Amino acid sequence: MGFRARLRGRLLDWAMRQMNDLRPEALAPATGEVLEVGFGSGLNLEFYPMAVTRVVGVEPRPPEGVPAIDERIARAPFPVERRALRADRDLPFDEGRFDTVVSTWTLCSIPDAGRALAEMRRVLRPGGRLVFIEHGRAPGASTARWQDRLNPVWRRFADGCNMNRSVDRIVGEAGFSLESLDRFRHEGPGLLAHMYRGSARR
Ligand SMILES: C[S@@+](CC[C@H](N)C(=O)[O-])C[C@H]1O[C@@H](n2cnc3c(N)ncnc32)[C@H](O)[C@@H]1O
Repeated sequence: MGFRARLRGRLLDWAMRQMNDLRPEALAPATGEVLEVGFGSGLNLEFYPMAVTRVVGVEPRPPEGVPAIDERIARAPFPVERRALRADRDLPFDEGRFDTVVSTWTLCSIPDAGRALAEMRRVLRPGGRLVFIEHGRAPGASTARWQDRLNPVWRRFADGCNMNRSVDRIVGEAGFSLESLDRFRHEGPGLLAHMYRGSARR
């Protein structure tokens, strides 16, 4: 395990723990068998509601040097399965298998978010929910322009993260029906603080 990989894992875990206050409300609509896209360091596990029965987490670059991941999995009150997979490739799951697909601050980082959303929709049962919380494009034109200008540089230094995606638009374009959407500004730098929290039905 290299120094850079460990540093990336620890930084990702630390940075994403700062979002823990937003997780319970975002995850509240999740039920049944869940596909979690971009499982990261497993930070969602302690915040899932009791209606969740199993979590399958897909993650192409499992964070290294974070022993807490195994502890989080061991403490979860439901089985957790981790798979080293990209969500913007064909997923090895049957159509309609999952009750819920969860994405927390992951749609920003998936290179082909449209393809990933199409896969998420395919593996959801009819009427199943995509539950998400993401940062993305700001509502104000001036901030959004700065996001567009800085995004190419940001993406290079921030592990492929895009700051300017219109989350509700890409979810709708993938064929989902939005059932709830809260947009709000969280703490932190304005370019990264515009949150989209919601759910959408297949
Ligand atoms: C900002 S982190 C969020 C991690 C976690 N969802 C959380 O809430 O703490 C973004 C995650 O998306 C993952 N990711 C990047 N590209 C991906 C892809 N093509 N498919 C699935 N996950 C991807 C990254 O490896 C990283 O773990």
